[in-house]
Amino acid sequence: MKALVLAGGTGSRLRPFTHTGAKQLLPIANKPVLFYALESLAAAGIREVGVVVGEYGREIRELTGDGDAFGLRIEYLRQNRPLGLAHAVRVARDFLGDDDFLLYLGDNYLQQGVTDFVRRTVADPAAARLLLTPVADPSAFGVAEIDAEGNVLRLEEKPDSPRSALALIGVYAFSPAVHEAVRAITPSARGELELTHAVQWMIEHGLRVRADTTTRPWRDTGSVDDLLEVNHHVLDGVEGLVEGKVDAHSTLVGRVRVAEGAIVRGSRVVGPVVIGAGAVVSNSSVGPYTSIGEDCRVEDSAIEHSVLLRGAQVEGVSRIESSLIGRSAVVRPAPRLPRAHQLVIGDYSKVYLTS
Ligand code: G1P
Repeated sequence: MKALVLAGGTGSRLRPFTHTGAKQLLPIANKPVLFYALESLAAAGIREVGVVVGEYGREIRELTGDGDAFGLRIEYLRQNRPLGLAHAVRVARDFLGDDDFLLYLGDNYLQQGVTDFVRRTVADPAAARLLLTPVADPSAFGVAEIDAEGNVLRLEEKPDSPRSALALIGVYAFSPAVHEAVRAITPSARGELELTHAVQWMIEHGLRVRADTTTRPWRDTGSVDDLLEVNHHVLDGVEGLVEGKVDAHSTLVGRVRVAEGAIVRGSRVVGPVVIGAGAVVSNSSVGPYTSIGEDCRVEDSAIEHSVLLRGAQVEGVSRIESSLIGRSAVVRPAPRLPRAHQLVIGDYSKVYLTS
């Protein structure tokens, strides 16, 4: 079985980060969310993976390479415009050939991995197999209606009045029958070829579509809140390990990872926290549930439940909470006079001030 990982798309809910990089490379506990997907494919015994990329394809390719590091053989497939998930399957037609395949949305985080799902796909062949989970707000997702035996009766993409609470997780298994379906459908109201519509087409054409339901942790990391929540969740499983330097004036509480080349001086770090290589944390309070990326600088500040991307600098600011701070972004206090906020922020940024 092959796998197709989708790592294109616009990521409009993650602006401004998606103006300068792929959403699938945003870090969870200092590791790109895409890597968790690739690791779980390798763990499930899959070897051949096509990664569909869009405008940030080069960055993804540079970081992910030929797949050797994951025990995979990765081929990159270019989707020139973000025309939808079913369009990405069209783009991958030659790579997929007539093989069965697992389709994995590269911004989805699934704690349990895909090993059981792959096992059930092999044991109980169908034209398509979906993975579902009950959610509080199904209208934000693809929604499935199933019968008591796990047969899918009907699918709708982000319906206003959902007919069930079962959302489609971004992991699907397909037989080659999907290729006719993705060719048959037309663009949705948002101008995309929806995979949900392709699977609905398969149901309407009498094909067997099965579903498994899970209640294990899953998130589409498509928004800042979801990303912070997944970061929180993954940090909960991180083991403490100090490879960098922590001076005698610092205290580490609980599980804290300090990467080689990172420095912690005169600070209190309350785990779970990860601090990336080359980062410097001084005279600060960090954590819990915080990821400090490589080469960041946190000085005279307090920060918790946040993610700092590579090279971000936070100096003299207390306190920062539930924040995602971009690469090489700088957060500093304004001069005492005039008493005013001074902002240099990019398009679609969000700033929440206390006064
Ligand atoms: C896509 C699918 C949707 C699915 C979701 C899972 O939504 O269209 O059916 O429930 O992924 O993450 P999108 O992220 O494109 O809004």
